[in-house]
Amino acid sequence: MDKVLPLRLGVNIDHFATLRNARKEGFPSIVQAATMTISAGADMVVCHLREDRRHINDEDLYLIRKVVVKDLDLEMALREDVIKISFDVKPDKVTIVPERREEVTTEGGLDVKKHFDQLKELVKEYKKAKIETFLFIEPDIETIELSAKLGVDGIELHTGRYSRARGKDVIHEYKRVKIAAEKASEEGLLVAAGHGLDYQNTPLIASIPQIFELNIGFSIISKSLFIGYENAINSMRQLMMINRK
Ligand code: PXP
Repeated sequence: MDKVLPLRLGVNIDHFATLRNARKEGFPSIVQAATMTISAGADMVVCHLREDRRHINDEDLYLIRKVVVKDLDLEMALREDVIKISFDVKPDKVTIVPERREEVTTEGGLDVKKHFDQLKELVKEYKKAKIETFLFIEPDIETIELSAKLGVDGIELHTGRYSRARGKDVIHEYKRVKIAAEKASEEGLLVAAGHGLDYQNTPLIASIPQIFELNIGFSIISKSLFIGYENAINSMRQLMMINRK
């Protein structure tokens, strides 16, 4: 019987900034978003400082760090400017993601093979700075083995294909995530998952015992428009526990 880990919820607050930027206003406040995320019972605040700063910007990140004293996860690409900022801001965790300017959101996982040498150096630097390193990767065995060789703390499995699957493909994609989670756990890695998770497809992913954390953004922020932010977080939390023994 697999050990079932407690399941944490990280909430990605980027889309508060998307909304603010749509009108070039000072609200909704990103600081309020960050503090409410924690007071509503999420375990972590997640944000992604993108190359084009399309949602949160540098100032937002520094402000978020001031109010989120622990459990801040910075998603970031392997870009020199953002890497530099990350060492200055010192989030508790960085999640390295691939980034393409033309994409709407992070499509696909990191090419660990291509960036292996750069990642190896960077992981050492983050270790020295006491920042956990996670890699956002496809549920793929070879990529997991490579990630383990880098000495990262963990991986976040990209659930994009799972969340877009329909019909019998759902089970197929779920199994890919499950097998990948088992493999990563055997390799001694912490296993998070995220992308495209919503109020329907989350319980199945939450049932995988090796997964210790889900990172969810768009569906929670969207739901909050109708039922309020705290309710949206609580309601997701409850769904996450349905299949968790
Ligand atoms: N995890 C990572 C690494 C991401 O890049 C994103 C999207 O920013 C998410 C989780 C959250 O995805 P969604 O907004 O679809 O819930």
